[in-house]
Amino acid sequence: MSVLRTKPIKDVVAQGDADGSDGSPGLKRRLGARDLTGFGIGIVIGTGIFTLTGIEARDSAGPGVVISFAIAGVVALLAALCYAELASSVPTAGSAYTYAYATMGEIVAWIIGWDLLLEFALGAAVVARGWSGYLAELFGLPSTWFAEEGSVVNLGAIGIVLLLGVVAIIGIRESARITNILVLVKVAICVFVVVAGLFFVKAANLSPFIPPAEPAGAGDDGIKQPVVQAFFGLEPSVFGFVGVLSAAAVVFFAYTGFEAVANLGEETRRPKRDLTLGLFGTLLISTALYIGVSLVVVGMVPYGEIDRGAPIAAAFNAVGASWAGVLVSIAAVAGLTSVILVDLVAMGRIGFAISRDGLIPPAVAKIHPRWGTPYRISAVMTVAVALLAGFLPLSALADLVSIGALCAFMIVAIAVPILRRKRPDLERPFRVPFSPVLPIFTALACFYLTLNLSIETWIRFLIWMALGGIIYFGYGYRRNRLATGEAEGRAKQPASA
Ligand code: ALA
Repeated sequence: MSVLRTKPIKDVVAQGDADGSDGSPGLKRRLGARDLTGFGIGIVIGTGIFTLTGIEARDSAGPGVVISFAIAGVVALLAALCYAELASSVPTAGSAYTYAYATMGEIVAWIIGWDLLLEFALGAAVVARGWSGYLAELFGLPSTWFAEEGSVVNLGAIGIVLLLGVVAIIGIRESARITNILVLVKVAICVFVVVAGLFFVKAANLSPFIPPAEPAGAGDDGIKQPVVQAFFGLEPSVFGFVGVLSAAAVVFFAYTGFEAVANLGEETRRPKRDLTLGLFGTLLISTALYIGVSLVVVGMVPYGEIDRGAPIAAAFNAVGASWAGVLVSIAAVAGLTSVILVDLVAMGRIGFAISRDGLIPPAVAKIHPRWGTPYRISAVMTVAVALLAGFLPLSALADLVSIGALCAFMIVAIAVPILRRKRPDLERPFRVPFSPVLPIFTALACFYLTLNLSIETWIRFLIWMALGGIIYFGYGYRRNRLATGEAEGRAKQPASA
């Protein structure tokens, strides 16, 4: 069963510390814990909190959306525990893809690598279109070239993807610097929203905290309904605890991306310590901000009147503090910009890891001698994302980002106990407590959240996976390094060289 062949951990570690097999350089170790947390928050806090809060509070959970954010945050935190164990013991550019290759076998690795490419490429493209919309609104630009719906070619989206793609290619330090600035702006404004918003919270708006369940309106049935409702033949409904849970699956989107931190394992100076700090720093800060921001929004405006498009700015407008709306727009633009940049950075690392293993042509895995980045694969993917973002209205596909992340989390959670059994001797700077119970629970929780996504999302996801299957059996299965028995790369030069 060669589709289940696994890659020995010693090869994974050697590859991470090695130069290319032809003597070309490997990735450069240039990042510390603060940069990793910056990248993490950079990709996590984006459109989710700025848009989904309104939609889910109004249509699905009422003020209970705060609980939805907390539930999604706990699931993300559990997944981060599993990531921290694997990332700190086997730091690699491939993250979940490589962990799966070492534990569950090549086909699972390919599936998850392909799935991660979807998550990050689509994440960047969806957010780029949102970014373009904001730009058009700020400067009154024509909708033909900048709007989410109805634009022929979305020039704003193409422009921002290409610009940030160049930054991602030119260097990890340059990307870190820009990301850190953007993150400071958006975090400061989110803290401001929470503190200023608290003065306008009215207890009456928070009661009932979870509005009673009611039948869903038209449009929420058929393939738009969550898989779990269709499977158990439940009457489609909104609000109530069921509504809070399905909102948790949707707002999970707001937490996706933190796992990109694990893709920087080969570029971190002290990966064993800093990857764990980066993962937890990202999630603790993001969860606290999300709960705070969603609480003040539902506390400021009765949930039935919350704005679907720009809930935070509209909440401040509603209480007569419209100047705050400008700040929120700045935070949103900073947020979206950093999400696109980190998506592009992470995508390049995953593509690099996959092509280094030969599952896609290895020629694209080259690292630039001066920039220290996987410039070829990053350039190819940047252009692909720019085309996607330029020509397709993608907002309907945002849930694919969530399903992509949740599937990766499931695999990572399952990989924890498998690797413990396979390599009990491996040094583990961080250990998930109560393994295998907690990892299994994490995988089940992620699976449950995927079932709360719509049938439509599942169908699209399966189509993407089928496409991946064709590529794997058409190319990677025969041509990859394990299949051809190619030797591993040479030892990397000392860091100071
Ligand atoms: N988590 C990112 C966001 O909310 C993708 O935009």
